[in-house]
Amino acid sequence: MLLDSKKSQKKYVVGIVGASGAVGEELLLVLEQRNFPVERLVPLASKRSVGKSVNFCGEKYPILETNAEVFSKENIEIAFFSAGSSISELYANDAANAGALVIDNTSFFRMQDDIALVVPEVNPNDIRKDARIIANPNCSTIQMVHVLDPLHREFEIDRVDVSTYQAVSGAGKRGMEELVLQMQKFFAFEIDSAKSEVFQHRIALNLIPHIDIFLDNDYTKEEMKMINESKKIMHADFELAATCVRVPILRSHSESITIRFKREASAKRAREILQSADGVIVVDNPKDNLYPMPIIATDKDDTFVGRIREDNFDKRILHLFCVADQVRVGAATNAVRIAEKWINL
Ligand SMILES: NC(=O)c1ccc[n+]([C@@H]2O[C@H](COP(=O)([O-])OP(=O)(O)OC[C@H]3O[C@@H](n4cnc5c(N)ncnc54)[C@H](OP(=O)(O)O)[C@@H]3O)[C@@H](O)[C@H]2O)c1
Repeated sequence: MLLDSKKSQKKYVVGIVGASGAVGEELLLVLEQRNFPVERLVPLASKRSVGKSVNFCGEKYPILETNAEVFSKENIEIAFFSAGSSISELYANDAANAGALVIDNTSFFRMQDDIALVVPEVNPNDIRKDARIIANPNCSTIQMVHVLDPLHREFEIDRVDVSTYQAVSGAGKRGMEELVLQMQKFFAFEIDSAKSEVFQHRIALNLIPHIDIFLDNDYTKEEMKMINESKKIMHADFELAATCVRVPILRSHSESITIRFKREASAKRAREILQSADGVIVVDNPKDNLYPMPIIATDKDDTFVGRIREDNFDKRILHLFCVADQVRVGAATNAVRIAEKWINL
């Protein structure tokens, strides 16, 4: 637990909007594992979940319906939002007006000028004690800036090209169910009757270069999030192009990143820098077949990076591969780390 001991004596009434979802369930785990100072937990979701409960620190808490009044009625002091942009748009200001600090996992507030977009290992100073709402970046962005920021400080980034390999849980619980059901159909020799409701095409034994909607410039919204959010978090201006791809694995996003710097960069120095970077673990021993993979990163709170190598033609270019558990590093853990930093201010 990273809390200042004096300040951590205070405990908080913590609300989780979307407590029954993939990120919400992980938030419960992370709060418990990090011994977050919870006075009382208030799990919130849709009407559909009323009557259900969640487990937290060995106790059951009934799920309440999310509405404009619940935040003041329950005296919520810190509200994590993870129920989708439309729900944050509807209720985050109600929570903030009721006196809660809102930490929003959705995209709704991220690019608003007056809202901080925070990865605590990169821009902790953007967290202000008087903030009403703090935005948590897109999951693919968080793990990328974990790696880019320390390298930028040493070599200064000129351009980044990234391709992602994103797990189905990035689309929530229904994304995971869709892959599992399609694989069951495959093993029953019924794959042709598999339904695709969450993804645009069958995801089992396939991959889909399409995440979120296409925009007028032919990039997807997910790709543009990576571009715009990275610059806001790092307070830097460099060229970036992204290709985001959904792949048929359950959890942890992977990214192949090519970085061109303004100065010459060696793989050896990059490895040293990343070895001492907060929230990053270097796994880079190709001779022993050691490199980051989703099965290494899942359920962990660090971004794993490896395959760090120099370009064969340009001394300013490095290539690398990183993987992180996007439900934790890319959402729940990042949000809780923001709250911890805010408490310590
Ligand atoms: N999954 C990831 O890897 C990830 C990473 C970073 C950010 N995010 C973002 O986090 C948010 C949640 O994603 P998720 O993956 O956890 O989705 P999810 O598994 O589909 O969960 C959605 C949650 O929202 C709740 N909800 C739906 N409609 C609601 C309503 N009208 N009022 C209140 N609650 C409502 C659901 O409650 P019911 O069970 O009652 O329907 C459920 O708890 C999204 O904005 C997503 O983009 C996700």
